[in-house]
Amino acid sequence: MRKTQNYTWDTLNLGTCYYPEHWDRSLWEEDLKRMLDAGIGTVRVAEFAWNLFEPQDGCFTYEFFDEFLDAAHSLGMKVIFSTPSATPPAWLTEKYPEVLNARMDGVLYRHGMRRHYNYNSPKYREYVSRIVDKIGAHYAAHPAIIGWQIDNEINCETSEFYSDSDTAAFRSFLKKRYETLDALNQAWGAVFWNQTYTDWEEIHVPRTTIHNSTNPHEVLDYIRFVSDSAVSFCRMQSDILRKYVKSGDFITTNGMFNWLDNHRMTDEALDVYTYDSYPNFAFCLDADPKRPGNLNDRWWSMNLSQVRSICPHFGIMEQQSGANGWNTRMEAPAPKPGQLTLWAMQSVAHGADYVSFFRWRTCVMGTEIYWHGILDYDNRDNRKLAEVKELSKRIQALRPVAGAEYKASFGVIRDYDNAWDSDIDVWHRRLARSSEDEIFRVSQLTHTPMDYVYLLNDTEVNELCRYPVLFYPHPLILTKERVDLLKKYVEEGGTLIIGARTGQKDITGKCVMEPMPGLLRNLAPGNVKEFTFIGPADDPQTVTWGGETLPAGIFCDILEADTPDARVLAVYDRDYYQGSPALLEREYGKGRILQFGGTFTFENVTRFLEYTKVLSPWSDLVCLPEECEIAVRARGQKQYLFVLNYSKAVQEICLKKCVRDMDTDLEVEGSVELPPFAVKVYEF
Ligand code: GAL
Repeated sequence: MRKTQNYTWDTLNLGTCYYPEHWDRSLWEEDLKRMLDAGIGTVRVAEFAWNLFEPQDGCFTYEFFDEFLDAAHSLGMKVIFSTPSATPPAWLTEKYPEVLNARMDGVLYRHGMRRHYNYNSPKYREYVSRIVDKIGAHYAAHPAIIGWQIDNEINCETSEFYSDSDTAAFRSFLKKRYETLDALNQAWGAVFWNQTYTDWEEIHVPRTTIHNSTNPHEVLDYIRFVSDSAVSFCRMQSDILRKYVKSGDFITTNGMFNWLDNHRMTDEALDVYTYDSYPNFAFCLDADPKRPGNLNDRWWSMNLSQVRSICPHFGIMEQQSGANGWNTRMEAPAPKPGQLTLWAMQSVAHGADYVSFFRWRTCVMGTEIYWHGILDYDNRDNRKLAEVKELSKRIQALRPVAGAEYKASFGVIRDYDNAWDSDIDVWHRRLARSSEDEIFRVSQLTHTPMDYVYLLNDTEVNELCRYPVLFYPHPLILTKERVDLLKKYVEEGGTLIIGARTGQKDITGKCVMEPMPGLLRNLAPGNVKEFTFIGPADDPQTVTWGGETLPAGIFCDILEADTPDARVLAVYDRDYYQGSPALLEREYGKGRILQFGGTFTFENVTRFLEYTKVLSPWSDLVCLPEECEIAVRARGQKQYLFVLNYSKAVQEICLKKCVRDMDTDLEVEGSVELPPFAVKVYEF
């Protein structure tokens, strides 16, 4: 558990997102009763309801949610209450257009959608602080409330902010970071293309440029600034709520979006983190066809693994229950029978102890008339509700799983500097995305569970030492602190695997005038003599490793051994660097470091996992086809094995040991058939 997680659910729980303001009051009681009857014990409300608290500037009304909270409480329904800052009222944006976010060319985003505000407008911060203070003071003591959600999906819709307030705040951010313009010009390499600044007033958030290709070192700082602004906006609200939140209740926010240090936000402002999981995006008409393999909805396990690194025992504030779609974008089929349960269980398998469905009933108005909830417009009982009921019975049987740890066989290191640099540097991006996708795909298809491990300012070596093997695929940016940590990890016995272009840049995103891997040079077995991209006209490059031919990926660092103890494990097979080292290994302290010149592919990652003896750790327990995902959560001596069938066909698994089926309470061993989209959970 991360040291900053202050809240955990003591048992598995189901919830739903409810919008009392969308329905006639006469429906509330019936709705709440039907939810409770289906095993839904918590509702999240109010995140877009500012006008119901403040219909006019400075005029506050509380009756609507008083009535709703009382109704919920009298029936035994728990409530997560939200701050409404994601949707400012029209009276506010008309009176103070400065609160609005803007496009890069300065045109303001107007009322009519959501999240059209900026985090830095002093006026917006004043109005948000006031409304949060008012609703905190009024509602927090209510016995139905168990927690608070801040805003809604911070950085969703857009993570780019170009208002005048943002420019003013960006200047302050930079003054704090660099103190002098000389230091800033140096950090941004401003001498290139004559970009030198001579006055702070000359600096703006990125503006329209030819190809919109603004100075990359500036944009990297701009992304850091966006994250900083979002965290500060969230913290501002949580500081106010803290005055009122009753003991035992939590503060959270939902979603996981770009250009936001979610770890820092959680550490500084939240008690627990919740995510919104919509795996049916995989089946939308405009689903991303570029990702390798056919993992489809299983890619959401990648997101869930990242969420786990922020908060190991997280919640799902919005879990897919119906087809997704807006009237303006996204068209997707209805989830097939079993998929609602499969996706909810996917969340639980990865560490969620609270799963709340979006939404109770499909909205009959507005942009989201096609974002389907559990119930459809006609409000009749349907197969989705029947599935929720069935799931809630299963959740009862799975109660002991709450709080159990996800067991990973290896880890993949990430850090925000490299993640953000890869968003703006296409060379970096191509390497990073393809290697991360391939590593994840291997983890899924070989049944080798993995974690993401973020290097943060306060990460300690024992957090790394939980993993015998860590990939840090392409950390172009290295810092001394991170290198010291990695060195300790290897000294303590860890195996560190790095790939092409490690150590190319410093923290500003500028290239270092050192042989790669830069700051890791004293630890790594070799250096990079030369390097090349594999172009469209090149033959694919391969390496020979222990007699096996494996793909080298899309980029090749041509290595040369530096230390007497360096061993060449693999060489390149063709082109002008045929026979040059592609993979070097060196022992250091109690561990070792593997330096790979290529990028990570399905075949070579499988070989790395095999070589480091972490491949398929549960193969003595269960044998299963690629179509199924495996996850194990453990607490003390008890371990819980999840097997999730993502395919529309029956899949057969073979249990090699006797385990207890948690649904039937029966001991099972041998062959078991999983119907399409089915999930089994076994205790062993
Ligand atoms: C989420 C959001 C919800 C709803 C849902 C469906 O991103 O938090 O408010 O919009 O998507 O679009």
